[in-house]
Amino acid sequence: MNVKMLEHEIGQVDERSDILDGLSQDQKQLSPKYFYDETGSRLFDQICDLPEYYLTRTELGIMREHVEAMTGLMGPRASIIELGSGSSLKTRILLDHVEEPAAYVPVDISRDHLLKTAGCLADDYPEIEILPVCADFTQSFELPEPAVEPDRHVVYFPGSTIGNFSRDDAIDLLKQVRQVVNGNGALLIGVDLIKPRKVVEAAYNDTAGVTAKFNKNILARINRDHAGAFDPSRFEHDAVYDEEHHRIEMRLISCEEQDIPIAGQSIHFEKGEYIVTEHSHKYSIDEFGSIGEEAEFSLKDIWTDPDQLFSVQFLEAI
Ligand code: AVI
Repeated sequence: MNVKMLEHEIGQVDERSDILDGLSQDQKQLSPKYFYDETGSRLFDQICDLPEYYLTRTELGIMREHVEAMTGLMGPRASIIELGSGSSLKTRILLDHVEEPAAYVPVDISRDHLLKTAGCLADDYPEIEILPVCADFTQSFELPEPAVEPDRHVVYFPGSTIGNFSRDDAIDLLKQVRQVVNGNGALLIGVDLIKPRKVVEAAYNDTAGVTAKFNKNILARINRDHAGAFDPSRFEHDAVYDEEHHRIEMRLISCEEQDIPIAGQSIHFEKGEYIVTEHSHKYSIDEFGSIGEEAEFSLKDIWTDPDQLFSVQFLEAI
């Protein structure tokens, strides 16, 4: 089914200067949001099925087991706004249980992927109004108005995507979410928990090499969208767990000394120099609780798996 999509301009110029700025720092860095073009979104879906990537299947298990408690806390006639919706897999579990949802609003930066997913959901859930929004959810964006007035707004933010933000940026993002949902709103969020180094490093250095392809796709995307000339085969993927900050750091390491033209500029790499492409923070329940509180949310309930690998948390606006 065709769905009507709200599109927010995702600035090419801002994106270009952000990329050049990141690559000009002493420690070269790129925002992980640039992973998600059509290829990146497809590769991420493949990562979610990898045996080493415990996050998705563990979160799905928690959702399946506790969805009634979650939708019970949401209450009837909620509008569900999903940030970084991707393939909306976990959403189906929610949509199967939520009482008389006012609307489902998937928000994603990857336009074609979003349209495809929203179209499939509209076919499978004809009774629910599906209102996709193509936007960078880290910027403010306008929400569509559902035909039925919702009793409350609930933001659904699964997958531990919050872990891809620094602590301060996570607080800022949750403050923005707090404004979107208003006084009686809520947030259902997936948060990855602290665990031994070897489990985390295996999840981000899979033996099939899918994460390496996903990581290197950021270079192909810069080539295509910003007149870059990276040769991805001259960079190596690595992911290292930083025990002090409880985060995995994904890197692209230059295999040799090289100069890369991008948008009319030249970026120099020494052999062994690397770009940090992503941080993925792992939290204790208390540490994440303090982030929620700073954004004026209070924890209502929390569900985990028996091995305490992952958590799904329901927070309400204070
Ligand atoms: C989307 N995000 C939560 C993933 C993560 O685990 O940080 C992205 C990812 N990067 C490598 N593998 C998966």
